[in-house]
Amino acid sequence: MNWTMPFFCLLFIGRICNAATQGETIMAEPILSIEGVSFRYPNQSDYAVQNVSFIAERGEWLAIVGHNGSGKSTIARMLIGLLRPERGAIRLFGCLLDDTTVWEVRRRVGMVFQNPDNQFVGATVEDDIAFALENNGIPRAEMVERIREAIRQVHMEPFLHHEPHRLSGGQKQRVAIAGILALRPDMIILDEATSMLDPRGREEVLETVRRLNCQQRITVLSITHDLEEAAKADRIIVMNKGEVMAEGAPEHIFRLGSKLERIGLDLPFAVKMGSRLREQGIPLRAGYFTTEELVEELWTLYSKK
Ligand SMILES: Nc1ncnc2c1ncn2[C@@H]1O[C@H](COP(=O)(O)OP(=O)(O)OP(=O)(O)O)[C@@H](O)[C@H]1O
Ligand SMILES: [Mg+2]
Repeated sequence: MNWTMPFFCLLFIGRICNAATQGETIMAEPILSIEGVSFRYPNQSDYAVQNVSFIAERGEWLAIVGHNGSGKSTIARMLIGLLRPERGAIRLFGCLLDDTTVWEVRRRVGMVFQNPDNQFVGATVEDDIAFALENNGIPRAEMVERIREAIRQVHMEPFLHHEPHRLSGGQKQRVAIAGILALRPDMIILDEATSMLDPRGREEVLETVRRLNCQQRITVLSITHDLEEAAKADRIIVMNKGEVMAEGAPEHIFRLGSKLERIGLDLPFAVKMGSRLREQGIPLRAGYFTTEELVEELWTLYSKK
């Protein structure tokens, strides 16, 4: 078999994708667009994902929330080409996701999974980050530089020669993120990446992702059950039984209140507390969804007395 053809095809597609994201007229195009996508697992009559459409802009933090089995992970698997839509199309960086573009897409879209223990192959943190770089044919001198940069970005420099399995859950997830960063991604997908962590580990990971999102404009797609976490996103997509039930800014989504509870989602404490206080006649302005914001508003009201 002649191996040069696929190699040049990939190179060509990579160039087109880069040109598409850098060219001025195409810059306004979303980084991700899902158009009428449906998917059924083999031998299943029900669709796991049905007629789902949404976009993500470059640099946006998009949260996908939904009850167990609502199709969130199936969407994530389709985005990195592990599953192929039965109907509809997925475009990333201006290119249709198909067999010819999937490898380039996987280099540019990194995914962090739920279980921090299932994603390490290296004996040390350094080896682990090097693994993906080796697989992508990065020359040794550049590898060293990229590993150093990636580990600095997640604030894990002192752990470079540690065994991944001895780290805390939050540290493990930050190493997993460093492995992705070393490949210089445009988008990170977190599939319940904080759900097995304690509050401190969760905050460490979210803080790291927030910094990358703000400073490097890496697009973030976070899949979560935790509406408190989703409240920090720019936009939320609510999934129910494989379909998009609602989409909008957190403030807009939290106004759905009991509709979210009816599909099995737990409203953040501050949203529930805020609506109870308003029912009691306390003149809170609408739309408080983080605990810090609610506390601040209560202090402001108290100090006006
Ligand atoms: N490998 C599989 N084979 C058959 N059906 C599957 C498979 N994986 C998932 N499903 C089904 O597809 C639907 C969507 O599952 P998916 O894992 O995408 O949901 P989810 O929203 O990620 O759920 P969770 O919050 O539990 O992670 C569910 O009904 C699930 O049972
Ligand atoms: Mg899932």
